[in-house]
Amino acid sequence: MEEKKEVPPAGGGEERPVIIELKDVCKSFEDTRVVRHMNLQVREGEFLTLLGPSGCGKTTTLRMIAGFEQPTSGQLLIEGQDMKGKAPYERNVNTVFQNYALFPHMTVFDNIAFGLVEKKVSKKEIRARVEEMLRLVQLQGFGDRMPSQLSGGQKQRVAIARALVNNPKVLLLDEPLGALDLKLRKQMQTELKHLQKSLGITFIYVTHDQEEALTMSDRIAVMNEGVLEQADIPSRIYEHPVSKFVAEFIGETNIIEAYLDAVDGDCLHATMECGHATIYAPGFVLEEMVYLSVRPENLKCSLTPVPGFAVRGIVREHIYVGNLIKTIIELPTGQMLRMLSLPFTPLAQLGQLVYVYWDKDKAVLMHTKEEKLYNLIESGMLGKEEAL
Ligand SMILES: Nc1ncnc2c1ncn2[C@@H]1O[C@H](COP(=O)(O)OP(=O)(O)OP(=O)(O)O)[C@@H](O)[C@H]1O
Ligand SMILES: [Mg+2]
Repeated sequence: MEEKKEVPPAGGGEERPVIIELKDVCKSFEDTRVVRHMNLQVREGEFLTLLGPSGCGKTTTLRMIAGFEQPTSGQLLIEGQDMKGKAPYERNVNTVFQNYALFPHMTVFDNIAFGLVEKKVSKKEIRARVEEMLRLVQLQGFGDRMPSQLSGGQKQRVAIARALVNNPKVLLLDEPLGALDLKLRKQMQTELKHLQKSLGITFIYVTHDQEEALTMSDRIAVMNEGVLEQADIPSRIYEHPVSKFVAEFIGETNIIEAYLDAVDGDCLHATMECGHATIYAPGFVLEEMVYLSVRPENLKCSLTPVPGFAVRGIVREHIYVGNLIKTIIELPTGQMLRMLSLPFTPLAQLGQLVYVYWDKDKAVLMHTKEEKLYNLIESGMLGKEEAL
C-alpha cells in the first residue's frame, strides 16, 4: 500500500528526521509469512501506533525493530543505519512488554536502576536518575516497595520508568495497558501520551484497541495479515480509509458493493444490489466495482424519495446508545444498515418503509476485486435501472 508522505509535525511544526525505517521488510516463520513487504517511516518524536487484529504481525514487527527477531528479507534502518546483525543492546531502543516483567524480588528502585547498574553508572547518578523517573511516572516515595505491593497501573508505570531511565531515543510498547481495567487504562493513556510529548521520545505503540489508537497516536499504521494497509493520521484513517478492512476495523461503518456505471454531473451513478445512488467519486472511473463505506453518523433516512438516490429499506430497530439513537434499517438484500441520529430527530416507526441516503461526499469509495455484483449485472440478473 502506498505510504503517504505527510506526517504530522511532532509538535514543533517542522518535519522531523526519520528515525526508523522499514524497507520492504518481510518475516516468515518456516512457511508462514507473518509480515509482508512492509514499508514504513517513523519520525523523531512521533507517536506511531501499530494497530490490527490478533495475529496480524504487530509484535513481530516490534520485535524486529527491537532486534529480538531478524527480518527474513528487506532492510531495517535506525537513524539511517542498517540494523542487520545488530543485537538489541546495540540499538537505541527500549521495549515495554504487556506483562510488565518486573523482577519480583527487587524493590521498585532496584527494578528501575537495573539497566544503569548493568552499565556500571555511578551510585550517585543512579540515585538521581531513578528519583527523576519516579517523579516522572508519579511514584515518588514508592522506591522501597516490592512489586507485589503495587497496583497493576503502578507496576506498569515502573516498567515504563525502567525503560525510560536508559534515555532511549525510541520506546517500543507492546500493549502496555492490556492488563489494566478500563478506567485505569484510560487514565494511563492520557499519562503516557503526556509523558511522550513532554520527553519528545519516539513511541511505537502496539494495540488492537482502535479507540486507544485513535486517541493517543500522531499516526496509525493499520495491519492486516502481515500487510500494512494504511499509515496515516487518525482523522484520515477514520474519514478516508483506503480499504474495506481499514474502514471496518476503525469504527463502525456500512459497506455496500456498487458498480459505477454512468456520469451524472460531477458525480458518478452507482448501481447496487439494493438500488441506485449518485456519488461523488473523484479518482474513480466508470465500469469499476467499488465498496461504498458510509459511517452510521452519515447515513440518513427520509419518508419520501430523495433525488439522486433509490435505496429503500425497512426500519427494524431503534437502540438507545447514551445520547444517540442507533437505528437498524433492513435493505431488500437482507443487509442491515446502521444509522446514528440525535434523540430529538423524528424517528420513523418500526416496520416503516424509508428512503436511505447520505450527503454525496460522505460515502468513501474503495476499490474492490469483488465481482459478485458485476457478474449479476453482466449476466442480466440485475438490470442497471431495475427499480426496487
Ligand atoms: N516464533 C514464532 N514462530 C512461529 N510463528 C510465530 C512466532 N512468533 C509469531 N508467530 C506467528 O506469527 C503471527 C503473528 O504474530 P504476532 O505475535 O506478531 O501477532 P500480533 O499482531 O502481535 O497478535 P496479538 O494481538 O495477538 O498479540 C501469528 O500467527 C503467530 O502465531
Ligand atoms: Mg502481539
